[in-house]
Amino acid sequence: MSVLGTLEELPQSYRDNLAKVDLVPLWPALRSFLPYGAPERKCKPMIWRYAQARPLLLEAGDLTPIEKAERRVLILANPSLDSSSGRATPTIYLGLQLIKPGETAPNHKHSPSAIRFVVEGEGGFTVVEGEKMPMERGDLILTPSGLWHEHGHSGSGPVVWLDALDLPLVYSVEASYCVEGAPQKPTNAPDRSQTQYRRAGLMPYSALLRQPDRYPLRRFPWREVREALNALTSHAGRDEHAHLAYINPETGTECLPILGFSALALRPGETYAPPRRSSSAVFHVIEGAGDAEIDGASMKFDVSDTIATPTHARIQLRNNTSKIAYFFLVDDAPMQRKLGFYEEF
Ligand SMILES: [Fe+2]
Repeated sequence: MSVLGTLEELPQSYRDNLAKVDLVPLWPALRSFLPYGAPERKCKPMIWRYAQARPLLLEAGDLTPIEKAERRVLILANPSLDSSSGRATPTIYLGLQLIKPGETAPNHKHSPSAIRFVVEGEGGFTVVEGEKMPMERGDLILTPSGLWHEHGHSGSGPVVWLDALDLPLVYSVEASYCVEGAPQKPTNAPDRSQTQYRRAGLMPYSALLRQPDRYPLRRFPWREVREALNALTSHAGRDEHAHLAYINPETGTECLPILGFSALALRPGETYAPPRRSSSAVFHVIEGAGDAEIDGASMKFDVSDTIATPTHARIQLRNNTSKIAYFFLVDDAPMQRKLGFYEEF
């Protein structure tokens, strides 16, 4: 590998002449654009503990009425990244959102895609393009790019969910925006997870006769995902992980274009040590507790905690309890695969 010249080695008069016509020499900056062997990562491993975040989120509910917040969210901002950018990893935005009984979030749509993963509470609901979906603990709800959505809460007690958005990417290409609209008129039918797409391997016959819908299934009930994981853990070998991807049932591919979502179950004493992946990722603890080691940083995790892992990270999660531990995962692998640079090592 050659030793590259620095900017300081160039005569000042030459540098001034370059600046006058907005030209920049590549070679002094080449290694920062293309580091040799592995990427230089600003993003560091991070854990947000729900026991610390929850009281502050509830306090926000007292301090700020929903009309003044619109979205009452505490962003999980990784301090190793520019905190004003509100990123958990370079591509993943995360927020904890509180909605109190009777509150609503007005109907809107935006260019980033979002998901909700319900952390606690009962009675919340999301309406996407007229489809009203209940939000039970552990449910994954999709609000894809450009689809109208609004939230409400007809139960009692606080409802908290984890928002994950591809906002950092959409914002970085200066394509992020939102519009508001009139309230939707929800249909009375149960949501599609309970009707058209109730069982894996089945879909409406009419779907065979048309182009696949981009977002046919927008709610993945935790009850069913948990059952599916349990079935796997009962039969998988000790060196196999129970790890299921949330997909579009009409295409069999990732359910959103940029971020990917999956659920992982670890049996008592089981360790998850995947290959190093070029994607950054988030692990949200649905149930269980244990130890994690991310790029050499050790941390203990507990229920509803959220861990961010950088690209190319060495990841180890261990379930130290006597019960199955469950995780909800977010990563940017779908984007990386589409763009052709996803790798495992
Ligand atoms: Fe939204």
